[in-house]
Parts: sequence; C-alpha cells; structure tokens
Amino acid sequence: MNKSVVFAALSLVGLAIALPASADNDPKKVAIKARQGEMSLRVFNAGPLFAMAKGDMPYDAQLAEKLAGNLKALLSLDNSRAWMPGTSTDEYANDTKALPKIWEADSKIGEAGKKYKEAVASLAEVAGKGPDAMKEKANDLGKACKGCHDDYRKKEKN
Ligand code: HEC
Repeated sequence: MNKSVVFAALSLVGLAIALPASADNDPKKVAIKARQGEMSLRVFNAGPLFAMAKGDMPYDAQLAEKLAGNLKALLSLDNSRAWMPGTSTDEYANDTKALPKIWEADSKIGEAGKKYKEAVASLAEVAGKGPDAMKEKANDLGKACKGCHDDYRKKEKN
C-alpha cells in the first residue's frame, strides 16, 4: 500500500470513530444513555430472579444472592445527574421514554424510587435463603419496577 492509501484508510477509521462520539457531545443525551444503561443493568440482574420466581428457571441460591446483591450495589451509586431536567420525551422524543411528569413539582417518582430501594433491600436479605422467601420478594420487586414504569415511562404503543 502506498502512503496516500494508508492515509485515506486511516482517516476513514477516524471518521467512523468521530461521528458517534460527536452525537454524544450533548450532555443531555449522555445522561439519557446513562440512565437507560442503569436500567439495562437492572433487568440484566433482575431477569433471572424473575425467571426463578416464575419457575421458568431452577432456583439457584448462590446466583440469586449474587444478583440481588448486584441490584443493591447499583443503588449505592448516586446517578441523580442522569435524571437532569430537560431530558424528557418533550425534548428528546426519539431518545427517551422518560415522561415529563417525572420533573413536575408534584412528582411522586421519589416515592417510587424509595419503594424500589426497599424492595431490593428485602430481596437481598432472603434471596439466598430458599425459593419460597425469594419468590415472594422477587414478585414485590417486579411490582416496584412496574409501578414506576406504569406512571413515568412512555408505553411502547399509545
Ligand atoms: C423509580 C422509577 C423506576 C424504577 C423503580 C424502575 N425503572 Fe426502569 N425505567 C424507568 C424510566 C423512567 C425509564 C425510561 C428511561 C428513558 O428512556 O430515558 C425506564 C426504562 C427501563 C428500561 C429500558 C431501558 C432502555 O434501554 O431504554 C428497562 C429495561 C427497565 N427500565 C428495567 C427496569 C427494571 C427491571 C426495574 C426493576 C428491577 C426498573 N426498571 C425499575 C423508571 C424506573
């Protein structure tokens, strides 16, 4: 390869890297991605717990304890910056499902968050201690996720 071909190839690589990065220069989009990333980690860890509770997967004490512990560890992060105002479906219809009412003065999302935190804590206490105790708390956890989604996340289809 001569030099100019190598240079052209390198600049194409540079472009490929630079383009997505520049789309991420909007700090609000970065915040939206961060909270969606956190939600992905929630479902990644909660998914098998829900499956065990439903009987779709055999109960595994060690795994259940680990996953519930992960959910708890995720809550030890202060990700409040990921919920910055001006990042709802009103401003970013194509990027987010977070409804504007999250940021309204009378928003109860803090309560939904508190319920979630309590559900995770109760589950983490019993997750490794047998299928029955785990199942009940995993179902409560599912209700805590759903409760918040019903009120504050845009439905897939309206
Ligand atoms: C206090 C409110 C709240 C709780 C509790 C909550 N979520 Fe969410 N979740 C949201 C909101 C709001 C969105 C939309 C975020 C966005 O699109 O910017 C969301 C989005 C998601 C998404 C989609 C992420 C994406 O990539 O777009 C998944 C998956 C998810 N949540 C899973 C869960 C699971 C599993 C739980 C419980 C273990 C949970 N959530 C608990 C509010 C909550």
